[in-house]
Amino acid sequence: MNYRHAFHAGNFADVFKHAALIALLDALAQKPAPLCYVDTHAGRGRYDLGAGEAARTGEQAGGVRRLLAATPAAPLRRYLDLLRRLDPDAPTGALRHYPGSPLLAAACLREQDRALLCELQPDEYAALRVLFRDDARVHVHLRDGYAALPALLPPPEKRGLVLIDPPYEAQDGEFAAIQAALRAAWLRWPQGVYAVWYPIKRRATLRPFQRWLAASGARKVLIAELQVRGDDSPLRMNGCGLAIVNAPFRIDAALAALLTALQPLLADGPGASQRLEWLTPD
Ligand SMILES: C[S@@+](CC[C@H](N)C(=O)[O-])C[C@H]1O[C@@H](n2cnc3c(N)ncnc32)[C@H](O)[C@@H]1O
Repeated sequence: MNYRHAFHAGNFADVFKHAALIALLDALAQKPAPLCYVDTHAGRGRYDLGAGEAARTGEQAGGVRRLLAATPAAPLRRYLDLLRRLDPDAPTGALRHYPGSPLLAAACLREQDRALLCELQPDEYAALRVLFRDDARVHVHLRDGYAALPALLPPPEKRGLVLIDPPYEAQDGEFAAIQAALRAAWLRWPQGVYAVWYPIKRRATLRPFQRWLAASGARKVLIAELQVRGDDSPLRMNGCGLAIVNAPFRIDAALAALLTALQPLLADGPGASQRLEWLTPD
């Protein structure tokens, strides 16, 4: 396990994933009944953009920094407002710390909701624990997120979202682990909403996973993808996507608006594109 998310914090993939995560949680929070958020690969929860790994790679320049430098279109305002709210000590208009998925999710959750976070890397786990030590809604586990899912599901709330955001150190081999975990999870909790993040190097390599999803018996499977350049380079991350199972009502419209606002800001070449497609509409 060499992956450290700090090297990539605030890059275009984080922007897309986190803006979509907020839209998903906001959609679920339309109903007052409690919900449970599960993050199988949580990371450390908060990243210093001005120092260390994030400053060294500078990936933020092609991601969140572009949004901060622009006048944000309406669909991006909620995401940007949350970034600023979660970084209160930054000078006005600037951003020093970038929130990970657990911190953004916790900001979207209400008093009656809970979050269950799994992280396998001890230092990342320790940082996550400190971050949430005063938030009784949030439970942090030093665990393999795939293996933990059957034990955590179904949550007593019976409503909620599982984010599966692995590091893809096994490249396309990661999909075998995702499929096994998803199958076990939705057998136990068929009503749960599941969102799987994936990188796009060459789109063709994603077809087996998407074919499997379409044939799996899962319902309301929606694919949302953002490419910042053409997918002709197999060595670079050219885009990324989210596969959503049991996609909430009207999330397709919210994601369409997000993709349309993000594509021109994050484009890094003539092949930039977006895709929103139902693999199984019902
Ligand atoms: C892509 S990062 C997560 C980023 C985070 N979800 C966010 O959006 O802010 C993946 C994380 O998974 C952790 N990890 C790797 N394998 C894991 C496993 N089997 N179970 C739980 N965490 C794992 C890594 O240490 C890393 O922190």
